[in-house]
Amino acid sequence: MTTTLPTRPRASRIDPRLDLFEEIERLKRQMNAVVLAHYYQDPDIQDVADYIGDSLGLARQAAETEADVIVFAGVHFMAETAKILNPTKQVLLPDLAAGCSLADQCPADRFEAFRQQHPDHLAITYVNCTAAVKALSDIICTSSNAVAIVNQIPRDQPILFAPDRNLGRYVIAQTGREMLLWQGACIVHETFSEKKLIRLKVEHPGAAVIAHPECEPNLLNHADFIGSTTALLKYAQASDRQSFIVLTEAGIIHQMQKACPDKTFIPAPPEASCACNECPFMRLNTLEKLYLCMRDRTPEVDLDETLRLKALKPIERMLAMSPR
Ligand code: 13P
Ligand code: SF4
Repeated sequence: MTTTLPTRPRASRIDPRLDLFEEIERLKRQMNAVVLAHYYQDPDIQDVADYIGDSLGLARQAAETEADVIVFAGVHFMAETAKILNPTKQVLLPDLAAGCSLADQCPADRFEAFRQQHPDHLAITYVNCTAAVKALSDIICTSSNAVAIVNQIPRDQPILFAPDRNLGRYVIAQTGREMLLWQGACIVHETFSEKKLIRLKVEHPGAAVIAHPECEPNLLNHADFIGSTTALLKYAQASDRQSFIVLTEAGIIHQMQKACPDKTFIPAPPEASCACNECPFMRLNTLEKLYLCMRDRTPEVDLDETLRLKALKPIERMLAMSPR
């Protein structure tokens, strides 16, 4: 399964004298728009957002907002989920190419064939997938509610879990349930080096290792705490520790540092000497593109109504089964 990495072209149609922070605030008022941002966005984007959250928090915000326009600073599946929940609202995404390696690795036709091979299995699918895959699923989950959702399924019900094998393995370990796993992985979370992590732990003996469940199991074995991006942030805030080695996309460190200015956050190093711990899809969005998509009201995420209604059901089941 291959993933084509996106590049990040510069937006060049903006008067350089404009203060983009002020302009975005003005457009928000003018359009009655809300800006929702994931923690993996550039710090500038996080700073203009009305709400910053993990996938579940963002889906909930999208379901509850009274704004007319949702400007989604995240990746395509997140904006698509907002549109599925809000068919009458305009949903803007600064760069339509902001995809996700997990979604790419689970094409709907192959997922449908997988389901047909296992007709007795309930399909619990990670939200990091296309609307077409959601429409073929029974229940959607995110990294913050996957364990709680699987625990609500009767124990004699066989389950298949897609597309992230690492989150799937983590859920199996937490619930003791057997699940058939789709073999997908996140290109960012599979990049961390165990050797370099061990070296960092030696250099920072007091640091807590905190990790997203999309990481490979050998990395998760080193973690003092495993959770979704929101859970990692809350853990860092509540912990007595002064330093943390962070095994997830480095964008979250902006909020961690803001919430805990006296604590130290060390991004876990990737295998290669690259910025591979930044998601190339998330980072396609820039402040410039955010401004342009609001000014021009494009690009917009749209969806066929029949597909939307099919994809809505498993998302609604997720929201009903998610603890607050
Ligand atoms: P969260 O559920 O923590 O938002 O994770 C989403 C994601 O894409 C992680 O790579
Ligand atoms: Fe997808 Fe990984 Fe980027 Fe999250 S970090 S959006 S799972 S590619």
